[in-house]
Amino acid sequence: MRFRRKGVSAPLAVTAVLAMVGVPAVLGSSAEAAPGCKVDYTITNQWDTGFGATVTVTNLGEPITGGWTLEWDFPGNQRVQQGWNGNFGQQGTRVTVRDAGWNGSLGTGGTASPGFNGSYSGTNGKPAVFTLNGTTCTGSTTPTTTTTPTTSSPTTTTSTPNPGGPKVDNPYVGAGVYVNPDWSAKAAAEPGGARIANQPTAVWLDRIAAITGTTSGRGLRAHLDEAVRQSAGKPLVIQLVIYNLPGRDCSALASNGELKANELGRYQTEYIDPIAAILADPKYSTLRIVNVIELDSLPNLVTNVTPRPTATPECDVMKANGNYVKGVGHALAKFGPIPNVYNYIDIGHHGWLGWDDNLGPSAALMAEAARTSGSTTANVHGFIANAANYGALKEPYFTVNDSVGGTSVRTSKWVDWNRYVDELSYAQGFRQEAIRAGFSADVGMLIDTSRNGWGGAARPTGPGPSTTVDAYVNGSRTDRRIHLGNWCNQAGAGLGERPKAAPEPGIDAYVWVKPPGESDGASKEIPNTEGKGFDRMCDPTYTGNPRNQYNLSGALPDAPLSGHWFSAQFQELMKNAYPAL
Ligand code: BGC
Repeated sequence: MRFRRKGVSAPLAVTAVLAMVGVPAVLGSSAEAAPGCKVDYTITNQWDTGFGATVTVTNLGEPITGGWTLEWDFPGNQRVQQGWNGNFGQQGTRVTVRDAGWNGSLGTGGTASPGFNGSYSGTNGKPAVFTLNGTTCTGSTTPTTTTTPTTSSPTTTTSTPNPGGPKVDNPYVGAGVYVNPDWSAKAAAEPGGARIANQPTAVWLDRIAAITGTTSGRGLRAHLDEAVRQSAGKPLVIQLVIYNLPGRDCSALASNGELKANELGRYQTEYIDPIAAILADPKYSTLRIVNVIELDSLPNLVTNVTPRPTATPECDVMKANGNYVKGVGHALAKFGPIPNVYNYIDIGHHGWLGWDDNLGPSAALMAEAARTSGSTTANVHGFIANAANYGALKEPYFTVNDSVGGTSVRTSKWVDWNRYVDELSYAQGFRQEAIRAGFSADVGMLIDTSRNGWGGAARPTGPGPSTTVDAYVNGSRTDRRIHLGNWCNQAGAGLGERPKAAPEPGIDAYVWVKPPGESDGASKEIPNTEGKGFDRMCDPTYTGNPRNQYNLSGALPDAPLSGHWFSAQFQELMKNAYPAL
């Protein structure tokens, strides 16, 4: 991964370099148009008075370009309360959904997945008949068109409600955590790797194909099946990384993804909705599913956009088109209502959002995203700090409140006016900021400690000299990076704290989200089919950019593509582990 990008730091004055319904739509069809459609009505979750449902409609006929209208009748007293991916209306039992604009075109075989939360009492029966632009959806094309919905041949498929839940406050308490067998096998094959091969690491769904499985890992259902097996009837957390936004990784190149900046529709219907449908399967209701939501995306919209000196054109595009915010909102809206799914939004790390002018706006943007696309802040269980980054968990030999000869360490080059010097204090500080921004007072934090150990021979054993703030901070800090904004395959890093539940106040768990041994990005250009680019922050000879204030990248040499196995880094992480192995 890439990550981290430091944002504009402190007050501009002191920071030199960073200055930094009703009516069926017109058919317009001719006799040869052979319209047809298929509808899959899935109740994604249900409780005694309410429920959530996804209605996936597939156009089997000629392409629809001028918008669509989907209709059905509820068999009972159900009422739509809030919908997404379409404009919902209801009169009596009849529901009419018009396209949302961006999903108004449906090619042959194209799908749309409007969803909604509704109320009911008594029995929550499923609608029997659906029409798309007036044509009854029978699952096949019809030789002639009709504008009259008939009441025959229900073709809906449904799933039974997921009985998991209610959600617990901290899903990690009293639970085991899933060991990904695909990662575990690679770790175990390394000399000395058996020492950590049984640690739980996250499963990255980093492209659409990861849902069904790729050459580098099994698919989502296979992981969930294995998780049910590992749980052996006891509570078990499985950690998934949702990571496939359109225009992914807008401030860097190493983890650019498969979806173009404008492909929000594909993100929703080909990525999020199918994942949500799998997670809602009652087979998996006993698992506690932790979703880490879209690393780097929202932080990028705070720090790496115009007029910041760290802006990139790609991040400006994602801010302008709103697709990160809408995508995150959609993911939250889909996953949050599933009773056994816990969403944690990525908050970068202290060396990115820890400055006063970044923290508040970030929390506000996350609250905005959590209220977009039909979501509410109730769909957010917490936040994750340091995902795939290297920020030290606790700096033992200095704090942000220290001063040397009356001068605050915040004026040092390393701290550079940041409000935090480590990830624990940052995560706890962000938590308060999030609550102020409107999130629940119960939100919990995760910290990725997979690679922030900073042990080994170079680790200081006490505070630095009290001569100048720079000498003091540089002598004290265990984070030995060249610059806080460095993020790719950092030389000198070690494994951090082993995964652990409820380690500190406000912290739900230390977790290993970035699987140790998987590269952050290639040191040179490598052609590939994953959409990944070459980011020079992964090239040890690179002298930097505005986001690391033009310092050397600090990256290890000869790294493979992001996500690919990097044996030399795995060995270095074990060597510099802190606590030591
Ligand atoms: C890559 C992903 C990979 C993940 C975990 C990211 O940097 O872009 O493809 O799954 O790291 O290693």
